[in-house]
Parts: sequence; structure tokens; C-alpha cells
Amino acid sequence: MTYNDRFIRACNRQEVDQLPVWYMRQAGRYDPEYRKIKENYSLLEICRQPELAAEVTLMPVRKLGVDAAILYSDIMNPVASIGIDFDIVKNIGPVIDNPIRTAQDIDRLRPIDVEGDLSHILETIRILDRELEVPLITFAGAPFTIASYLIEGRPSKSYIRTKGMMYGEPELWHRLMEKLGDMVIEYVKAHVRSGGKAFQLFDSWVGALSPRDFQTFVLPTITRIFAELDELDVPKIYFPGVSSGELLPTLQQIQADVIGLDWRVSIPEGRRRTGGNFAVQGNLDPYVLTAPMEVIKEHAKLIIDEGVIDPGFIFNLGHGLFPEASLDKLRELTEFIHTYSAEAIAR
Ligand code: CP3
Repeated sequence: MTYNDRFIRACNRQEVDQLPVWYMRQAGRYDPEYRKIKENYSLLEICRQPELAAEVTLMPVRKLGVDAAILYSDIMNPVASIGIDFDIVKNIGPVIDNPIRTAQDIDRLRPIDVEGDLSHILETIRILDRELEVPLITFAGAPFTIASYLIEGRPSKSYIRTKGMMYGEPELWHRLMEKLGDMVIEYVKAHVRSGGKAFQLFDSWVGALSPRDFQTFVLPTITRIFAELDELDVPKIYFPGVSSGELLPTLQQIQADVIGLDWRVSIPEGRRRTGGNFAVQGNLDPYVLTAPMEVIKEHAKLIIDEGVIDPGFIFNLGHGLFPEASLDKLRELTEFIHTYSAEAIAR
């Protein structure tokens, strides 16, 4: 089989024969085989075993026929190397033993040592680079989203402590953003040296900010991250997370190639708001997947019809897959996106 580069071509806004598709959180609990592995190992235990982590990354590629793989890891993994103890707790998410609340907490954070502390992740990437026939996307959590876990100590709905630091102690906040920005930059460079073929920065929760606060407290670090990664010859994706539609016009200058959209903004509107400077990725509401197959296809059709108008579109969900999603529906959806978009492109 030949290497499938549709995903990379679409990131670079080149023409494709059919739309590339992958799904945020495509390795996960909707797959019985994954649930079986999780009976024996936690997420972090899987990540520490490169052969197993590579296998879990490959499973959705084989089963769903998607055009890209995403490394099996978590956005929290690199913070272990800067001095944060955490666990991923079942039905909760990341939980931190020593949340970051004071200047001393921030000063104590070490520079990341990817080769020293996270060699298992680089080894997983090297294995996948040998085995995959589609591009491997590696990823990092963006500074705001990581900070929200580090400051709150666990998932939050209000971000009360995070915003408390941001508004109340802006100097501390900027120091934390700076350190997390450095962490992301070194981490991603190591991914690409090890064989990563594209990179996504997940800012899942930054849609909690107003556009003005985003520009003041977050965008400078996002801009710096993509500027310093510009030398890497791989497509770079920024996913500003859920409810981020109002932030899109502020992103026009960042040196990313692709912007991820959630379902609240249509594909043409997402393109318009980002000034036509990027490829776009998205944006099926993942919960549409609870509907009968005909309804799912109707929703996918609308997105494809809007997406194929210009080169530079990658089909995805607007946010991550959930445990109740169905493997069979996802497989059928992937096939539908490929065949329907091939016809639409040929027209
Ligand atoms: O296919 C893949 O996408 C797998 C790799 C992956 C994981 N997490 C593994 C994981 C990726 C890309 C992530 C990113 C991630 N992690 C994000 C950004 C994407 C998003 O959803 O917004 C965030 C915010 C996290 C933090 C995190 N990790 C949360 C909030 C949770 C709990 C939520 C849940 O679904 O239970 C996790 C746990 C986690 N990370 C799981 C997986 C497969 C689910 C639990 C498990 O299978 O052990």
C-alpha cells in the first residue's frame, strides 16, 4: 500500500481526490478492544509501554479507515517533566497533587527534559513512524488549557482560580504562560525529530475567555509558540476548543497552517473569520453520532458541501469522541465522507 498523504495535502491547502478525515479522541473507550486493554492498564501505564501505546494508536486507523493517526498520549504527559505530579482519574480526568497557586510554585517548575523524562513517548513515535501508512499527528496541550488543570488541580467548569490568577496576579500569570510555552516548544521539536508528521495544539478550554482577555493573556504565548515552531517542516494545527468562535478573528497572524473549528461556527464562517489564511478542520457535533445513520450522513453532507468549496479542509468532529459512540457508525461515516466528498470534488 502507498503512503496516504491526503491529510498533509489538505493542511497545505493543496487539492485532494477526497477529503481526509480523522476524529479527535479516535483511540478510546467506544472501542471494546480498547476497553479490554484498559481493564489491565491505566492510560499512563499504556503511555509508558511504547509497543502498546503504538498499537493503541494504530487500532482506530485500521478499524475506521481514517487518513491520519493521533499519538496515544495525553496533554498532561509533559508536565511530569517540569515537576508536576498528576494522575488521570477514571470518570474525572487529570488530577494534580501539588496545584500551582503561588510565585514559589511557578519558580519551582523545571525546564522540560524530553529525552530524559519522556523517552517512552519519543520511542512510541519512532515505532509509529516505521509502521504507519498515514501521517502521525502528535500534540501538546496549549498553555491556558494546561494552566487550568495545574491551577485548579482538576477539571473545572468556571476556571475560578485560573481566572483569579490571570486577573489578580497578571505578572505571575504571564510567568506561568512563558514557562508552559517553553515546555510546549521543546516537546514538539522532539516529536518532530522522532518522526511526527503534523502537530496539533489543543486549547480545549480557552473559549472561556473574552476575545480581549484572550489577546491580552494568551495570544502572545500562542503566537510565540507557532513562531518558534515555524522552522519545523510539518503542518501545524491550532484547536482553540469549544465555544471559540468569537476568538477566531484574533488568530489571523499566528503562523499555524490549520485552525480547528467547533460546531457553533460553520466552515465558511470559520474561514471568513480567520481571514482565509488557514486550512480549517472540523466540525461535526460529536453528539450527532447518537442519531440514526441517515441523520448522521445528512449532517456530514452539509459540512462536506461547505468544506469542499475550497482546498484546505479536513473533516473532523468539533470536539472529542465520547465513550458511547459506535465503532460501526464511525466506520460507515468515514466511508461515506470519502465517497461523498470524492463525488463532490469531481463535480
Ligand atoms: O485518540 C486520541 O485522541 C487519544 C489521545 C488523547 C488523549 N487525550 C487520551 C485520553 C488526546 C489527543 C488527548 C487530549 C486531551 N486530554 C485533551 C484535549 C482534547 C479535548 O478533549 O479537549 C484534554 C482536555 C485532555 C485532558 C483529559 N484527559 C481529560 C479531560 C480526560 C478525561 C475525560 C474523559 O474522556 O474521561 C482525560 C483522559 C483521557 N485522555 C482519556 C483518553 C483516551 C479517557 C480515559 C481513558 O481512556 O483512560
